[in-house]
Amino acid sequence: MTLRLVRIGLVLGSLVGLAAVGCATGSQTTTIGTGDPVADRQRLMKNVGANWADIQNKVKAGAPETVAVNAEALSLHAQRIPSLFPEGSLTDKSKAKPDIWQKWPEFQAAAKNLENRAGILRDQATAKDGAAVTTTVSTFGRDACGTCHTPFRVPPPPQQPAQPRS
Ligand code: HEC
Repeated sequence: MTLRLVRIGLVLGSLVGLAAVGCATGSQTTTIGTGDPVADRQRLMKNVGANWADIQNKVKAGAPETVAVNAEALSLHAQRIPSLFPEGSLTDKSKAKPDIWQKWPEFQAAAKNLENRAGILRDQATAKDGAAVTTTVSTFGRDACGTCHTPFRVPPPPQQPAQPRS
């Protein structure tokens, strides 16, 4: 009887211990990602590029109303862009221009612009308005990606095959 109580006590004790460890780890994970902002933002941008390529392919294939899931991904990614460009995170692996930190409000606005335009595209697709989606997509590369890449990203070498059009 007493032995059993002791055993229950031990089990309960270790559960409390585990919960404490869980809480401690939980409170430490305030940063999302690997802690290497250049690798994290290039990974995010690759997925932005992949979603954008998927959107264009779907429109070409005559299925513009199916792009909502991609447009929502772009909108969510855009929300994270500013947090992946902390001041002083420019390395030789990065194609970011130092202008980002000199014109920070404009950089933030460019991220917000992508978020908003992607949201419009998502809503048009959700409403099954294929014509509106096609029109938005026709200028999206210039208006949503180029407006940030032109001022804030070192252009890729010209002989390289084009990045997902942006
Ligand atoms: C708010 C600014 C901003 C917006 C908006 C933006 N980008 Fe970027 N993008 C960048 C910057 C800056 C880099 C370079 C990051 C680095 O190397 O540190 C980049 C890099 C990339 C890369 C290269 C990733 C790699 O492999 O290193 C791709 C692909 C890309 N962007 C696609 C897109 C597409 C497609 C859109 C629009 C749907 C878009 N981006 C919108 C700022 C932006």
